Amino acid sequence: MKLWGGRFTKREDEIMEKFNTSLPVDNRLYHEDITGSIAHVKMLVKCKLLTESEGDLLINGLESVRSDIESGALKVEGEYEDIHSFVEMNLTKRIGDIGKKLHTARSRNDQVAIDMRLYAKNKAGEVVTVLQQLIHSLNEKAANNNVIMPGYTHLQRAQVITFGHHLGAYVQMFSRDKKRVQNAIDILDENPLGCGALAGTTHNIDRQITTDLLGFAKPVDNFLDGVSDRDYLLELMSSFSIIMMHLSRLSEELILWSSQEFKFIEMDDAYSTGSSIMPQKKNPDGAELIRGKTGRVYGSLFSLLTTLKGLPLTYNKDMQEDKEQFFNAVDTVIDCLEIMSKMIDTLLVKEENMKAAIKAGFLNATEVADYLVSKGTAFRDAHEIVGKLIIYCEEQKMAIEDLTVEELAQFSSSITDDIYEYIDYENILTKGNKKLIKQILGKN
Ligand code: ARG
Repeated sequence: MKLWGGRFTKREDEIMEKFNTSLPVDNRLYHEDITGSIAHVKMLVKCKLLTESEGDLLINGLESVRSDIESGALKVEGEYEDIHSFVEMNLTKRIGDIGKKLHTARSRNDQVAIDMRLYAKNKAGEVVTVLQQLIHSLNEKAANNNVIMPGYTHLQRAQVITFGHHLGAYVQMFSRDKKRVQNAIDILDENPLGCGALAGTTHNIDRQITTDLLGFAKPVDNFLDGVSDRDYLLELMSSFSIIMMHLSRLSEELILWSSQEFKFIEMDDAYSTGSSIMPQKKNPDGAELIRGKTGRVYGSLFSLLTTLKGLPLTYNKDMQEDKEQFFNAVDTVIDCLEIMSKMIDTLLVKEENMKAAIKAGFLNATEVADYLVSKGTAFRDAHEIVGKLIIYCEEQKMAIEDLTVEELAQFSSSITDDIYEYIDYENILTKGNKKLIKQILGKN
């Protein structure tokens, strides 16, 4: 079942056939393949390369193949070389010799190029939708849980922030990711159909017709590039890798926060699993899997970058490898975004534990220094003074705000009663530009 038997005198070896076939991977492109073929037929009719009745037969035949695949009556499997052979041969089986006219003025090289662009464009749109869903979940959780918590640098308690501001950082990351994916969609929005194998065709075709029918912004400018460009997949997979990196950082925080050591959140049972031996365990598997699957997406990007490196123009069979990698990456990123969104929606914020962590961490030490600066001390001197104060607090096992004003004044004579208000954790969040931390900004 080949599209190219003519110049061969010998059958393809069975093992070569198995090695060469892409059907088990590209079977999911049946919809795009048929959509591309229908646009191609409509163009051929308009350009008088097919008659109206030939066009109708081909289009009805292609639609019947599509609806039988969708209903399950026709399984996309068998000894076909790829999805393109599968569709064309099944079409010819149904409508007879007219089916053999489908491939007029076309090559599998521009055919696979159009199929993949349509598929990638559509899937990238889905990624944008699930990114938006996650941004919404983060904004909602932030708005409903804008509670005070410790912020960290070096994973050491640093200064007070709110849970809302912390989640808001991820809103910014995923909003940039959304722009990156949208930008990649804009760049790929060109129609390669009509490039032929590599050098166009002697038939008088009109690439603008298929461009309009398939909803692309314009036809590609160069035939050679049109059949061999896979940059758009790399660009999308780079954006997916950055999304996964962001998801992995968030996952790591969810895992830490749900540990007994932090106890800042509790993950919903629906997204956790238990241990077969330790009855008390509730493991954050959803977050761990997202963190783990990040490697898979990076791997896909590197795999395709490496495949394409050094390929001469134009099409080479190496390029068939693009599909498995892109499908793997896009499926993974969509699944992970969906799961993360649900984990955020359902997680429980343990406000009291966050507050207790603030109390134990000298999270107002910077503000004591700021207080001294407001009284005329130079910041570097203030920093030194508060350092000494912290040693004292550690010895006494006391928080700064629990010392008496007399104790505090031993470290600087400019400390008076008004310090308590200045270094109160809630008050800190309304002073100066820290007001931003109190607000929920994410409106994306
Ligand atoms: N299965 C092939 C691919 O994915 C389709 C294109 C085949 N073209 C060719 N000249 N053999 O790249």
